[in-house]
Amino acid sequence: MSLLEVKNISKCYSVSRRRLGLPQQIEAIRNINFKLDAGETLAIVGESGSGKSTLARQIIGIEKPTSGKVYFNNEEQNPRSRKQRKNRFRNIRMVFQNPYESLNPQARIGETLDEVLQINTKLSSKQRKEKIATTLVKVGMLAEHQYRYPHMFSGGQRQRIAIARAIILDPQIIIADEPLSALDVSIQAQILNLLQELQEQMGISYLFISHDLNIVEHIADRVMVMFKGEVIEYGGVDQIFDNPKHPYTQTLFASTPMYRQRFPEFSTPKTVGKESTKSTGCQFAGRCNYCSQKCLEEKPELFELDSGHRAACFKTTK
Ligand SMILES: Nc1ncnc2c1ncn2[C@@H]1O[C@H](COP(=O)(O)OP(=O)(O)OP(=O)(O)O)[C@@H](O)[C@H]1O
Ligand SMILES: [Mg+2]
Repeated sequence: MSLLEVKNISKCYSVSRRRLGLPQQIEAIRNINFKLDAGETLAIVGESGSGKSTLARQIIGIEKPTSGKVYFNNEEQNPRSRKQRKNRFRNIRMVFQNPYESLNPQARIGETLDEVLQINTKLSSKQRKEKIATTLVKVGMLAEHQYRYPHMFSGGQRQRIAIARAIILDPQIIIADEPLSALDVSIQAQILNLLQELQEQMGISYLFISHDLNIVEHIADRVMVMFKGEVIEYGGVDQIFDNPKHPYTQTLFASTPMYRQRFPEFSTPKTVGKESTKSTGCQFAGRCNYCSQKCLEEKPELFELDSGHRAACFKTTK
Protein backbone atom coordinates (compact mmCIF):
# COMPACT_ATOMS: atom_id res chain seq x y z
CA MET A 1 0.00 0.00 0.00
CA SER A 2 1.47 3.28 -1.09
CA LEU A 3 0.51 6.76 -0.11
CA LEU A 4 0.79 7.97 -3.69
CA GLU A 5 0.97 5.95 -6.86
CA VAL A 6 1.35 7.31 -10.37
CA LYS A 7 0.52 4.90 -13.19
CA ASN A 8 1.47 5.60 -16.79
CA ILE A 9 0.93 9.36 -16.58
CA SER A 10 1.42 11.34 -19.78
CA LYS A 11 0.71 14.99 -20.49
CA CYS A 12 0.47 16.64 -23.92
CA TYR A 13 0.16 20.38 -24.37
CA SER A 14 -1.36 21.86 -27.48
CA VAL A 15 0.51 24.82 -28.88
CA SER A 16 -0.33 26.83 -31.99
CA ARG A 17 2.89 26.70 -33.97
CA ARG A 18 1.54 25.42 -37.26
CA ARG A 19 2.67 28.48 -39.20
CA LEU A 20 6.23 27.82 -38.09
CA GLY A 21 5.93 24.25 -39.29
CA LEU A 22 6.50 22.90 -35.80
CA PRO A 23 4.52 20.15 -34.12
CA GLN A 24 1.29 21.25 -32.50
CA GLN A 25 1.58 18.94 -29.56
CA ILE A 26 4.29 18.86 -26.94
CA GLU A 27 4.42 15.64 -24.99
CA ALA A 28 5.86 17.09 -21.80
CA ILE A 29 5.86 13.79 -19.88
CA ARG A 30 5.38 10.24 -21.09
CA ASN A 31 4.34 7.08 -19.25
CA ILE A 32 5.63 7.97 -15.81
CA ASN A 33 5.24 5.34 -13.07
CA PHE A 34 6.26 5.49 -9.44
CA LYS A 35 5.11 4.98 -5.88
CA LEU A 36 5.72 7.13 -2.81
CA ASP A 37 5.44 5.61 0.65
CA ALA A 38 4.67 7.38 3.91
CA GLY A 39 7.63 9.24 5.39
CA GLU A 40 9.99 8.71 2.45
CA THR A 41 11.68 11.14 0.08
CA LEU A 42 11.71 10.58 -3.65
CA ALA A 43 13.98 12.99 -5.49
CA ILE A 44 13.30 13.88 -9.11
CA VAL A 45 16.34 15.07 -11.04
CA GLY A 46 16.77 16.03 -14.67
CA GLU A 47 17.73 18.96 -16.83
CA SER A 48 15.54 21.97 -17.47
CA GLY A 49 12.50 21.07 -19.56
CA SER A 50 12.55 17.38 -18.66
CA GLY A 51 9.00 17.61 -17.28
CA LYS A 52 9.55 17.67 -13.51
CA SER A 53 7.15 20.54 -12.78
CA THR A 54 4.63 19.18 -15.28
CA LEU A 55 4.60 15.90 -13.35
CA ALA A 56 4.05 17.80 -10.09
CA ARG A 57 1.06 19.63 -11.58
CA GLN A 58 -0.61 16.37 -12.63
CA ILE A 59 -0.14 14.87 -9.18
CA ILE A 60 -1.55 17.81 -7.29
CA GLY A 61 -4.47 18.11 -9.71
CA ILE A 62 -3.92 21.64 -11.07
CA GLU A 63 -3.90 20.01 -14.50
CA LYS A 64 -5.60 16.95 -15.94
CA PRO A 65 -3.21 14.33 -17.30
CA THR A 66 -3.74 13.35 -20.94
CA SER A 67 -3.64 9.71 -19.89
CA GLY A 68 -2.74 7.64 -16.86
CA LYS A 69 -3.92 7.43 -13.29
CA VAL A 70 -3.04 8.90 -9.92
CA TYR A 71 -3.88 6.96 -6.75
CA PHE A 72 -3.83 8.81 -3.44
CA ASN A 73 -4.29 6.80 -0.25
CA ASN A 74 -5.14 3.85 -2.53
CA GLU A 75 -8.06 5.71 -4.07
CA GLU A 76 -8.06 6.27 -7.81
CA GLN A 77 -8.31 10.01 -8.42
CA ASN A 78 -10.92 11.17 -10.86
CA PRO A 79 -9.65 14.45 -12.40
CA ARG A 80 -13.24 15.69 -12.54
CA SER A 81 -13.99 15.10 -8.87
CA ARG A 82 -13.87 18.43 -6.99
CA LYS A 83 -14.08 16.65 -3.68
CA GLN A 84 -11.00 14.54 -4.39
CA ARG A 85 -9.11 17.53 -5.73
CA LYS A 86 -9.87 19.54 -2.62
CA ASN A 87 -8.69 16.64 -0.51
CA ARG A 88 -5.46 16.49 -2.52
CA PHE A 89 -4.88 20.25 -2.19
CA ARG A 90 -5.16 19.84 1.57
CA ASN A 91 -2.91 16.81 1.84
CA ILE A 92 -0.36 17.40 -0.92
CA ARG A 93 1.17 20.86 -0.51
CA MET A 94 3.74 22.63 -2.68
CA VAL A 95 6.86 24.63 -1.90
CA PHE A 96 8.30 26.54 -4.85
CA GLN A 97 11.72 27.74 -5.86
CA ASN A 98 11.29 31.44 -5.38
CA PRO A 99 10.02 32.50 -1.97
CA TYR A 100 9.92 36.13 -3.18
CA GLU A 101 7.31 35.36 -5.79
CA SER A 102 5.33 32.74 -3.95
CA LEU A 103 4.19 35.02 -1.08
CA ASN A 104 1.67 37.81 -1.59
CA PRO A 105 3.68 41.01 -0.92
CA GLN A 106 0.57 42.93 0.17
CA ALA A 107 -0.56 40.49 2.85
CA ARG A 108 0.89 40.10 6.33
CA ILE A 109 2.31 36.64 6.95
CA GLY A 110 -0.51 35.88 9.36
CA GLU A 111 -3.11 36.79 6.74
CA THR A 112 -1.50 34.50 4.16
CA LEU A 113 -1.47 31.59 6.60
CA ASP A 114 -4.97 32.37 7.88
CA GLU A 115 -6.36 32.28 4.35
CA VAL A 116 -5.11 28.70 3.94
CA LEU A 117 -6.81 27.70 7.21
CA GLN A 118 -10.06 29.49 6.39
CA ILE A 119 -10.36 27.81 3.00
CA ASN A 120 -9.43 24.33 4.15
CA THR A 121 -10.53 23.92 7.77
CA LYS A 122 -13.43 24.68 10.09
CA LEU A 123 -11.21 26.04 12.87
CA SER A 124 -12.46 29.01 14.91
CA SER A 125 -10.65 32.32 14.75
CA LYS A 126 -8.94 31.60 18.07
CA GLN A 127 -7.86 28.12 16.97
CA ARG A 128 -6.50 29.52 13.71
CA LYS A 129 -4.45 32.12 15.60
CA GLU A 130 -2.93 29.37 17.74
CA LYS A 131 -2.22 27.18 14.73
CA ILE A 132 -0.47 30.08 12.95
CA ALA A 133 1.70 30.80 15.98
CA THR A 134 2.72 27.17 16.56
CA THR A 135 3.40 26.60 12.86
CA LEU A 136 5.69 29.64 12.66
CA VAL A 137 7.62 28.35 15.66
CA LYS A 138 7.88 24.89 14.03
CA VAL A 139 9.70 26.41 11.07
CA GLY A 140 12.09 28.40 13.27
CA MET A 141 10.29 31.75 13.17
CA LEU A 142 8.64 33.77 15.94
CA ALA A 143 4.89 33.92 16.54
CA GLU A 144 4.97 37.73 16.24
CA HIS A 145 6.36 37.49 12.71
CA GLN A 146 2.77 36.94 11.57
CA TYR A 147 2.18 40.70 11.80
CA ARG A 148 4.92 41.50 9.30
CA TYR A 149 4.97 41.67 5.50
CA PRO A 150 7.10 39.40 3.26
CA HIS A 151 9.54 42.19 2.29
CA MET A 152 10.63 42.45 5.92
CA PHE A 153 12.32 39.03 5.75
CA SER A 154 15.42 37.54 4.16
CA GLY A 155 15.18 34.94 1.42
CA GLY A 156 15.82 32.11 3.86
CA GLN A 157 13.16 33.38 6.27
CA ARG A 158 10.71 33.74 3.42
CA GLN A 159 11.33 30.13 2.42
CA ARG A 160 10.61 29.15 6.05
CA ILE A 161 7.32 31.02 5.77
CA ALA A 162 6.53 29.24 2.49
CA ILE A 163 7.23 25.96 4.29
CA ALA A 164 4.93 27.07 7.14
CA ARG A 165 2.20 27.61 4.57
CA ALA A 166 2.81 24.09 3.25
CA ILE A 167 2.76 22.33 6.64
CA ILE A 168 -0.01 24.32 8.35
CA LEU A 169 -2.65 21.80 7.19
CA ASP A 170 -0.57 18.83 8.46
CA PRO A 171 -0.18 17.41 4.95
CA GLN A 172 0.89 13.86 4.11
CA ILE A 173 3.04 14.93 1.14
CA ILE A 174 5.03 18.02 0.23
CA ILE A 175 6.14 18.54 -3.35
CA ALA A 176 9.17 20.79 -3.14
CA ASP A 177 10.08 22.17 -6.59
CA GLU A 178 13.69 23.38 -6.41
CA PRO A 179 13.09 24.73 -2.88
CA LEU A 180 16.73 25.61 -2.24
CA SER A 181 18.05 26.87 -5.54
CA ALA A 182 17.25 30.55 -4.91
CA LEU A 183 19.13 30.51 -1.59
CA ASP A 184 22.82 30.85 -0.82
CA VAL A 185 24.73 27.78 0.29
CA SER A 186 24.75 28.35 4.07
CA ILE A 187 21.01 29.04 4.08
CA GLN A 188 20.41 25.99 1.88
CA ALA A 189 21.86 23.78 4.61
CA GLN A 190 19.57 25.31 7.25
CA ILE A 191 16.44 24.86 5.14
CA LEU A 192 17.48 21.31 4.26
CA ASN A 193 17.84 20.51 7.96
CA LEU A 194 14.45 22.07 8.65
CA LEU A 195 12.81 19.90 5.97
CA GLN A 196 14.41 16.80 7.47
CA GLU A 197 13.34 17.73 11.01
CA LEU A 198 9.78 18.31 9.87
CA GLN A 199 9.80 14.93 8.15
CA GLU A 200 10.90 13.24 11.37
CA GLN A 201 8.36 15.11 13.51
CA MET A 202 5.38 14.92 11.18
CA GLY A 203 6.09 11.86 9.01
CA ILE A 204 5.72 13.88 5.81
CA SER A 205 6.71 12.34 2.46
CA TYR A 206 8.62 14.53 0.04
CA LEU A 207 8.71 14.65 -3.70
CA PHE A 208 11.88 16.66 -3.95
CA ILE A 209 12.64 18.21 -7.33
CA SER A 210 16.23 19.39 -7.66
CA HIS A 211 19.13 19.97 -10.03
CA ASP A 212 21.62 19.73 -7.20
CA LEU A 213 22.98 16.18 -6.89
CA ASN A 214 24.73 16.93 -3.62
CA ILE A 215 21.47 17.96 -1.98
CA VAL A 216 19.67 14.96 -3.49
CA GLU A 217 22.27 12.56 -2.10
CA HIS A 218 21.76 14.13 1.32
CA ILE A 219 17.96 14.05 1.46
CA ALA A 220 16.65 11.31 -0.85
CA ASP A 221 15.68 7.72 -0.13
CA ARG A 222 15.02 7.02 -3.78
CA VAL A 223 15.89 8.89 -6.95
CA MET A 224 14.11 9.19 -10.29
CA VAL A 225 16.09 10.61 -13.20
CA MET A 226 14.09 12.21 -16.00
CA PHE A 227 15.15 13.10 -19.51
CA LYS A 228 12.88 14.73 -22.10
CA GLY A 229 9.70 13.75 -20.31
CA GLU A 230 10.63 10.15 -19.54
CA VAL A 231 12.10 8.31 -16.59
CA ILE A 232 15.46 6.96 -17.74
CA GLU A 233 16.77 5.69 -14.40
CA TYR A 234 15.24 4.91 -11.05
CA GLY A 235 16.61 3.45 -7.86
CA GLY A 236 17.55 3.75 -4.21
CA VAL A 237 19.84 6.67 -3.38
CA ASP A 238 22.81 4.31 -2.88
CA GLN A 239 22.15 2.49 -6.14
CA ILE A 240 22.09 5.77 -8.07
CA PHE A 241 24.97 7.46 -6.24
CA ASP A 242 27.28 4.42 -6.06
CA ASN A 243 26.46 2.85 -9.37
CA PRO A 244 24.66 5.12 -11.84
CA LYS A 245 23.93 3.07 -14.96
CA HIS A 246 22.31 5.26 -17.57
CA PRO A 247 24.78 7.28 -19.68
CA TYR A 248 22.65 10.39 -19.06
CA THR A 249 22.84 9.95 -15.29
CA GLN A 250 26.58 9.38 -15.68
CA THR A 251 26.94 12.68 -17.55
CA LEU A 252 25.11 14.45 -14.71
CA PHE A 253 27.82 13.20 -12.34
CA ALA A 254 30.59 14.03 -14.80
CA SER A 255 29.25 17.60 -15.03
CA THR A 256 29.28 18.10 -11.25
CA PRO A 257 32.78 18.90 -9.94
CA MET A 258 32.35 17.22 -6.55
CA TYR A 259 31.47 13.86 -8.16
CA ARG A 260 34.24 13.83 -10.75
CA GLN A 261 36.63 12.25 -8.29
CA ARG A 262 34.13 9.55 -7.38
CA PHE A 263 33.50 8.71 -11.04
CA PRO A 264 36.64 9.61 -13.03
CA GLU A 265 35.58 7.18 -15.78
CA PHE A 266 32.45 9.11 -16.72
CA SER A 267 32.63 11.64 -19.51
CA THR A 268 30.58 14.72 -20.19
CA PRO A 269 28.00 14.41 -22.98
CA LYS A 270 28.52 15.39 -26.57
CA THR A 271 27.38 18.97 -26.95
CA VAL A 272 26.20 18.45 -30.50
CA GLY A 273 25.11 15.13 -31.79
CA LYS A 274 22.73 13.59 -34.18
CA GLU A 275 19.36 13.77 -32.45
CA SER A 276 17.27 10.69 -32.89
CA THR A 277 14.68 11.96 -35.36
CA LYS A 278 12.68 8.78 -35.20
CA SER A 279 10.32 8.97 -32.27
CA THR A 280 10.99 5.27 -31.80
CA GLY A 281 14.63 5.66 -30.77
CA CYS A 282 16.25 6.46 -27.42
CA GLN A 283 15.73 10.12 -26.53
CA PHE A 284 19.32 10.45 -25.37
CA ALA A 285 20.88 8.75 -28.42
CA GLY A 286 22.07 11.99 -30.05
CA ARG A 287 24.09 13.04 -27.01
CA CYS A 288 25.24 9.59 -25.93
CA ASN A 289 28.85 8.51 -26.22
CA TYR A 290 27.79 4.85 -26.50
CA CYS A 291 25.06 5.26 -29.11
CA SER A 292 24.63 2.35 -31.52
CA GLN A 293 22.34 1.94 -34.52
CA LYS A 294 19.86 0.05 -32.36
CA CYS A 295 19.56 3.08 -30.04
CA LEU A 296 18.49 5.28 -32.95
CA GLU A 297 15.79 2.86 -33.99
CA GLU A 298 14.41 1.25 -30.89
CA LYS A 299 13.34 2.73 -27.59
CA PRO A 300 14.83 0.94 -24.57
CA GLU A 301 12.42 -0.07 -21.82
CA LEU A 302 13.20 0.58 -18.17
CA PHE A 303 15.13 -2.66 -17.51
CA GLU A 304 15.38 -4.00 -13.97
CA LEU A 305 19.10 -4.27 -13.14
CA ASP A 306 19.05 -4.91 -9.44
CA SER A 307 16.22 -5.10 -6.99
CA GLY A 308 14.51 -1.70 -7.40
CA HIS A 309 17.20 -0.29 -9.73
CA ARG A 310 16.04 0.30 -13.30
CA ALA A 311 17.57 1.99 -16.31
CA ALA A 312 16.34 2.56 -19.86
CA CYS A 313 19.51 1.72 -21.79
CA PHE A 314 20.49 -1.22 -24.02
CA LYS A 315 24.09 -0.94 -22.84
CA THR A 316 23.12 -1.90 -19.29
CA THR A 317 21.59 -5.19 -20.43
CA LYS A 318 24.65 -6.39 -22.30
N1 LIG B 1 1.47 25.03 -20.22
C1 LIG B 1 2.34 24.56 -21.13
N2 LIG B 1 2.11 24.69 -22.46
C2 LIG B 1 2.97 24.22 -23.37
N3 LIG B 1 4.14 23.61 -23.07
C3 LIG B 1 4.44 23.46 -21.77
C4 LIG B 1 3.57 23.93 -20.72
N4 LIG B 1 4.14 23.65 -19.52
C5 LIG B 1 5.31 23.03 -19.81
N5 LIG B 1 5.49 22.91 -21.15
C6 LIG B 1 6.63 22.26 -21.81
O1 LIG B 1 6.81 20.99 -21.24
C7 LIG B 1 8.18 20.67 -21.09
C8 LIG B 1 8.49 20.35 -19.64
O2 LIG B 1 8.40 21.54 -18.85
P1 LIG B 1 8.58 21.59 -17.28
O3 LIG B 1 8.33 22.97 -16.83
O4 LIG B 1 7.76 20.51 -16.67
O5 LIG B 1 10.13 21.22 -17.12
P2 LIG B 1 11.04 21.20 -15.78
O6 LIG B 1 11.72 19.88 -15.76
O7 LIG B 1 10.20 21.56 -14.60
O8 LIG B 1 12.11 22.32 -16.10
P3 LIG B 1 12.88 23.34 -15.08
O9 LIG B 1 13.97 22.54 -14.43
O10 LIG B 1 13.42 24.40 -15.97
O11 LIG B 1 11.86 23.86 -14.10
C9 LIG B 1 8.94 21.85 -21.65
O12 LIG B 1 9.27 21.57 -22.96
C10 LIG B 1 7.94 22.98 -21.57
O13 LIG B 1 8.19 23.94 -22.55
MG1 LIG C 1 10.30 23.14 -13.23
